[in-house]
Amino acid sequence: MIASECEPWAKTGGLGDVVDALARALGRTGADGSSRIDAPVDVFLPRYRAIAVPAGATAVTIRVPDPVAADGATDVDILSVDADGYRLRLVDLPAAFDRDGYYGTLVGDHPDNAWRFGMLCRSALETMRVEARPVDVVHVHDWQGSPAILYRDAWYWGDFTLGRTAFVLTLHNPAYHGWTHAPDVWTLGLPGSVGDAYGLDILRTGIERAEMVNTVSPTFAVEARTPEMGKGLDWALTARGDRFVGILNGIDTEQWDPARDPALAATYGPGAMAGKAACRAALADELGFDPDAPGPIAGAVGRLDPQKGFDLVADAAPAMVEAGVRLVVLGSGDPSIADRLRAAAAALPDRIAIRETFDRDLARRIYAGSDLFLMPSRFEPSGQSQMIAMRYGTPPVVRATGGLADSVVDADAEPERGTGWTFVEESGAALAAAVARATAAYADPDRSRWDAVVARGMAHDWSWEAGPVAGYLDMYARAIAARR
Ligand code: GLC
Repeated sequence: MIASECEPWAKTGGLGDVVDALARALGRTGADGSSRIDAPVDVFLPRYRAIAVPAGATAVTIRVPDPVAADGATDVDILSVDADGYRLRLVDLPAAFDRDGYYGTLVGDHPDNAWRFGMLCRSALETMRVEARPVDVVHVHDWQGSPAILYRDAWYWGDFTLGRTAFVLTLHNPAYHGWTHAPDVWTLGLPGSVGDAYGLDILRTGIERAEMVNTVSPTFAVEARTPEMGKGLDWALTARGDRFVGILNGIDTEQWDPARDPALAATYGPGAMAGKAACRAALADELGFDPDAPGPIAGAVGRLDPQKGFDLVADAAPAMVEAGVRLVVLGSGDPSIADRLRAAAAALPDRIAIRETFDRDLARRIYAGSDLFLMPSRFEPSGQSQMIAMRYGTPPVVRATGGLADSVVDADAEPERGTGWTFVEESGAALAAAVARATAAYADPDRSRWDAVVARGMAHDWSWEAGPVAGYLDMYARAIAARR
């Protein structure tokens, strides 16, 4: 794999979790000694400034073609670290990665991102070529991994090691294309024929050339083919026909487990729910909410931005409070959304709380201590918080889009199967109406319906092994067949 994020070394969002968990699920050997694939999994990641290289890492130096270097090549150290189930390979090129910000700073994107992530990919391919271990599949993630596919076509088509390799591209965030203006395209080190008079759309070109392309849910794979939601890629994705598929993400069910989560006031699990009540009481206490007030506590965790629909949370807050809901938001981002939530919390401190930090343990206490979890995303290729919330016995209220539509079943529409509540319209009123339906179930003196919704969400196995891994193996097999 080639990616710009991998937990726990580098993460700004779900991409980092997915690369780590998928690589591990693929590479780990089972209890019987068997592994899902017959070769080790390598993950190539930039050695960013913040990454502390563990003792015991081994290094090799690879000479990598570099269009920016005076003599056309640069020595790059590849640091190898055994991770649990895969081998992390840090691409150590200080000129590219020893700086603040993976992608940019507050001022904007790093101006040389095409060169930086080009060098990540070129270094990975050169390492594979030099090591001459046959590689069946190179799996790249988002635009930052996509230059690898362009280099394959330009420089490795007939290569002994990489010529037969299938390239697979996963789209996590199709809003970023790695658009490179014409005057900068040369920094990628591609033949002059790549790109047009305006420049190069790296992600779109990767989509056109990979053996297989996927995104992270079946519903988003349909949505991304439409002009409204395709972020300018709808045409390219549609043109790939059945070579573009959707595979819903999983979550790491060992890392996310209320039965052994040390961040919680008390642990709990299916059929042993006393601990959840203790978590709720502790959270209410921490936030200054009355634990005995009758309505539900609704939690929301994530980047405060319009993609995640946090402006809809702000819009819906008055109606939710009116209906007896208490609201806690953990996250930072868009200043205007933060301002509105802060003002709402200041006006009603015993009803609304906002914590503008990045606090992993508080996030866990919110998943466990809330009664409802809000995720009103405008678009959401997969999302993992809704799965975590269900595993923690906290039914999600979600906008029915992308992976949210594929993982949450509305409990009013499907009383026998429901695991949460869903709505369609992008508005605070629609969110508030869905929360009102959830609140009605929560407040019903007959708790059996509510308990069933909670229990179904907790019983579902969201692990990578239970679902997505088979989808990826199938996609790899199709990509290999297509390449050969
Ligand atoms: C992006 C998407 C999110 C997805 C994650 C991991 O962050 O916005 O929906 O869960 O990638 O695939």
